[in-house]
Amino acid sequence: MNKHVGILTAGGDSPGLNAAIRGIGKTAILGNQMDIVGFRDGFRGLMENRTMRLDMRVLSSILTLGGTILGTSRDKPHKMPVGDDTVDMTDVICDNYYRNNLDMLICLGGGGTQKNAYRLAQRGLNILTLPKTIDNDVAMSDVTFGFHTAMEIATEAIDRLHSTAHSHHRIIVVEVMGHNAGWLALGAGIASGADVILIPEIPYDPIEVAKAIRKRQQRGNNFSIVVVAEGAMSQVEASRYHELKEKKQQAKEQKDKETKAEVNDELNKFSRMRNGHTVRLSQELEEMTGLESRLTILGHLQRGGTPSAADRVLATRLGSSCIHYINEGVTGAMIAVRGEGTEAVPLEDVVGKRSVVPLDHTWLLSARQVGTCLGD
Ligand code: F6P
Repeated sequence: MNKHVGILTAGGDSPGLNAAIRGIGKTAILGNQMDIVGFRDGFRGLMENRTMRLDMRVLSSILTLGGTILGTSRDKPHKMPVGDDTVDMTDVICDNYYRNNLDMLICLGGGGTQKNAYRLAQRGLNILTLPKTIDNDVAMSDVTFGFHTAMEIATEAIDRLHSTAHSHHRIIVVEVMGHNAGWLALGAGIASGADVILIPEIPYDPIEVAKAIRKRQQRGNNFSIVVVAEGAMSQVEASRYHELKEKKQQAKEQKDKETKAEVNDELNKFSRMRNGHTVRLSQELEEMTGLESRLTILGHLQRGGTPSAADRVLATRLGSSCIHYINEGVTGAMIAVRGEGTEAVPLEDVVGKRSVVPLDHTWLLSARQVGTCLGD
């Protein structure tokens, strides 16, 4: 009997998703006699049993396409938005897994998807996952697909901002995605020769940033490029944020629902204010240096379009190695990148963790050595 394999893509889209779908699908069909079915729009499509046939004809034209042919969503099986409510739809999802005679469900996603997939594995479904996100923050994998392309896009954009900053003698503050990790800002910042790079792992002092810009002015460089990760915080903001996190933990332990709700409200505002943070930083720098400042938010531009060659290769080899692990009987695992190879890491070792930039990482050391200000 042919094995039946389901695929879904969940969370924010990312370049390389279609290359991974193709890698899984072609390897499964050619030489492994497996049947492949796609579910549309992440876990929602599995809940609603909306499928897409993935045959050789469909798989043959998608390697270079951006986005995901399956569609995606951030809906979670146990908190599925239905009308104005969120409902636990895990049972329906499990029923649809069996209705489609699946032997394996492969979930392509970032940190949130790993968590949701783990919950389904705990319910007895056979699950494998792949690490995808432009943020590169999935724990236990050297890298995630999508990251390389996003770093290329951000680098090219910052290169272009350089010449206009130079011509107008301005500061240009560039906000880069990355959620709560600084990989994308740091990588693109180093590659584009940014003068200042601010990442969530190193809370910054605006006065130090202004000092670095003024030093450049004294050397005759009347412009500066400041790359800011969307999750970066000033030292003042970071200490308030950690205070709130501690308060939330205490309220949780004391089962104090009212305080927990209040703290959550403030924490939520905090994350929604992120764009506001870069606007404020840009204004502060203008006031402190006397140079005009402009803000560019790269936003979803970084996630769109065709994947880089490196991401096509990575997604293809991760996709095809999934089939190898199915044949080996592996389940409940994420197929992680280990150098030029892969490793099946149990999902329980992946969830609840995040890969952030270690403070002794070589990228940080090199940035400092070439005189980049990191805001501390
Ligand atoms: O996780 C990928 C990511 O692009 C983050 O960098 C960013 O914070 C978030 O998704 C944006 O999400 P959305 O597309 O839902 O606005």
